[in-house]
Order: sequence, then C-alpha cells, then structure tokens
Amino acid sequence: MGKLHDKVAVITGGGSGIGLAIARRFVEEGAQVVITGRRQEALDEALTTLGSRVTAFQGDVSRRDDVERLYKQVGQSYGRIDVLVANAGVIHPAPLEFVTDEQYESQFDTNVRGVFQITQKALPLLNDGASIVLVSSIAHFKALEGHCVYAATKAAVRSFARSWAYDLKHRGIRVNCLSPGPVKTPIIGKMGVPDESLEAFERTLGEMIPLGRLGRPEELAAAALFLASAESSFITGVDLCADGGLGQI
Ligand SMILES: NC(=O)c1ccc[n+]([C@@H]2O[C@H](COP(=O)([O-])OP(=O)(O)OC[C@H]3O[C@@H](n4cnc5c(N)ncnc54)[C@H](OP(=O)(O)O)[C@@H]3O)[C@@H](O)[C@H]2O)c1
Repeated sequence: MGKLHDKVAVITGGGSGIGLAIARRFVEEGAQVVITGRRQEALDEALTTLGSRVTAFQGDVSRRDDVERLYKQVGQSYGRIDVLVANAGVIHPAPLEFVTDEQYESQFDTNVRGVFQITQKALPLLNDGASIVLVSSIAHFKALEGHCVYAATKAAVRSFARSWAYDLKHRGIRVNCLSPGPVKTPIIGKMGVPDESLEAFERTLGEMIPLGRLGRPEELAAAALFLASAESSFITGVDLCADGGLGQI
C-alpha cells in the first residue's frame, strides 16, 4: 500500500516543476490529487501525464474568490483534505535599488498572501491529523544576489510554518516547511537570464552547491512525501532543507 493511500491532497502550482513532481509522486503513493495554477494550458498538459486520480483547478492563490471557488469544488468532490502543499511561488530577481512596485507586490501577493489564504481557507476541509507542507526556499536564511524581496517572502513562509504548527496542534495538524536550494525547474528560466546564457548560469549555480549540481524536482517530491506522510508523524514546525548542502556547510 502506498504511503498516501486514499489521502486527498491539494498542491498549488502543481502544473510544473516541483509541484508537478510532487503530484506525480503522491499519485504513485495512492493519493487523489488536486493541482492548481493560473495557466490552464500548463494544467492541461500536466493532466495528460498524471492520470485519472488527478484533477486540476485553474486559479490564482492570491485571489480570495479563486481560493474560495477551489475549496468549494474540493469540498463537493472529496469532502476533505488530508494533505495541503502550498507550493505556488514566483521570483523577480532585482537588487534593492531596482525593485519595482510590481515586482514587490507580485512576490508578496503570491508567496505570502497566497500561502496565507490557501491555508486559512482550507481549515474547514482539513482533517484532524492532516499534514501541511509550505514550500519556502533556502533564501529565507541565506542571502543570494538579487533575492531581497523574494527572500523576505520566503522568510514569512518559514515563519508561518512555525506559528501554524502551534495554532493547529490541538487538531493534530502538522505544519512543516520545505526549503529547496536551486532545483532545475521552469522558475530558473523566469529569473531574467537570457536564453543563450541559461545553460552557463545553471552550470555556475551547480558548481556553488556542495553536491555539485542542481536538485531534481523528484528529489524535492521525495522530501515533500516524507513531510506529508505518516513517516514524519512526530515532526511539526521544522524547516527541511533539500539543497545539496548549499545552505548547510
Ligand atoms: N526551483 C528552485 O530552484 C526553487 C528554489 C527554492 C524555492 N523554490 C520554490 O519552489 C516552488 C515551486 O517552484 P518551481 O521551481 O517548481 O517553479 P515553477 O515551475 O515556476 O512553479 C511555480 C508554480 O506556481 C504556479 N503559480 C505561480 N504563481 C501563482 C499564483 N499566483 N497562483 C497560482 N499558482 C501560481 C505556477 O503556475 P502558473 O504560472 O500557471 O500560475 C507554477 O506552476 C516555489 O514556491 C519556489 O519559490 C524553487
């Protein structure tokens, strides 16, 4: 039997990258999965590879109406949530002097308000004993060039995990943080690096990492599975870094 046999999981940003890999792994482990994202075409493409135990919901985590519609649909279809992975996130790298209002708002809207709303509005559907995984980043404790606003949003996510582990302990709901280091996903292509320099950029990033390479989405999915499943039944409030050692040594 899979580690998430018959569990209902909601994964935001499940149409690509780490979220998609988590969705795939959760299905392999027996879960029924709902993935969300703003681009319908990305969700449709993801569904073609994920199979019939996955449904998709198009919506923006920073928009309250979208989040309420999502949970109305999840409530009607499944009646409960056992695992919530708040994974959707954006990055707009820029040093302090060049950060625009739009970049600031976009990152705080999705990475902070989005994580807050998707968790708060899930509470009526979350089973007692459920597991919540909030995807942060090692940027929340390690300064990286051009990451000042992004890092602040991810520090808020890490802080939410700590506080909500406290707030939800009376229901046996565990809340943990998963902090990736650099992982090869579409987000790397959204960092303003010209296409022709992307390969060199990824190589340089890989060389900075003690394990000598970027992470793979599947490796983050394995870490998310650990936090989501009963394998981590005595763990709440932690920050699990899957970063090839970049933030550790
Ligand atoms: N890859 C890395 O190196 C790395 C490192 C540290 C942390 N992380 C974190 O890991 C998470 C996943 O990132 P990834 O690397 O897998 O990148 P990705 O492939 O770009 O995934 C981000 C996902 O979030 C969705 N999303 C973004 N804004 C959204 C919004 N407002 N509402 C709903 N969905 C939204 C995107 O879909 P739509 O565009 O269709 O909405 C996309 O599916 C993010 O939180 C990121 O900050 C990644």
